[in-house]
Amino acid sequence: MSLQLGDLVPDFTQESTEGPIQFHQWLGSGWGVLFSHPKNFTPVCTTELGAVAKLKPEFEKRNVKVIGLSVDPLKDHHIWSKDIEETQGATLNFPLLADADKKVSNLYGMIHPNASDTMTVRSVFIIGPDKKLKLSITYPASTGRNFDEILRVIDSLQLTAQYKVATPVNWQHGQDCIIVPAVSDAEADKLFPKGYKKLKPYLRLTPQPNR
Ligand code: BEZ
Repeated sequence: MSLQLGDLVPDFTQESTEGPIQFHQWLGSGWGVLFSHPKNFTPVCTTELGAVAKLKPEFEKRNVKVIGLSVDPLKDHHIWSKDIEETQGATLNFPLLADADKKVSNLYGMIHPNASDTMTVRSVFIIGPDKKLKLSITYPASTGRNFDEILRVIDSLQLTAQYKVATPVNWQHGQDCIIVPAVSDAEADKLFPKGYKKLKPYLRLTPQPNR
């Protein structure tokens, strides 16, 4: 059975470019993003790792730790990180798990044998402070991921964790949010002092509460 939203994510200990990592302890009390790479010394992965390194301040602002994984030995990660620096103009500033024994890849279902039985797919797992899975997405090896979208989802998840709102289609930080249907109009009057537009009884829009 694959990992499903709401599940407690598996704990593990594995080597990384920043030393051995015990995952749950490393996550601490904040949010986490774990993302896999099919293989070292591959072009798409090289661009992704550079992009995430440049976005690290954005993750930190949101109290999110990022960690990558590739199914190659640690010594290769160190060599590859020099290539990332040279070609992407960014230093690897977060740990990259060296999952040569595929322990973590198998625990998290990152190997899809009908796609490849040696490489992982491109998985992303967003993990909440309760260590439960909040989002998982799977991309094929040939498509680089959009990490601005990962940040957008984190903004939405953090809003809905704090306020009784959801976010509409293509929502971006700063735009109106949806009051969840479980909130009555009387409760909404108290919870959303900026007011709300009631387009339908089930569709009520309110300015983003934390702005
Ligand atoms: C890449 O990261 O560039 C890649 C990896 C596996 C298959 C295709 C592309």
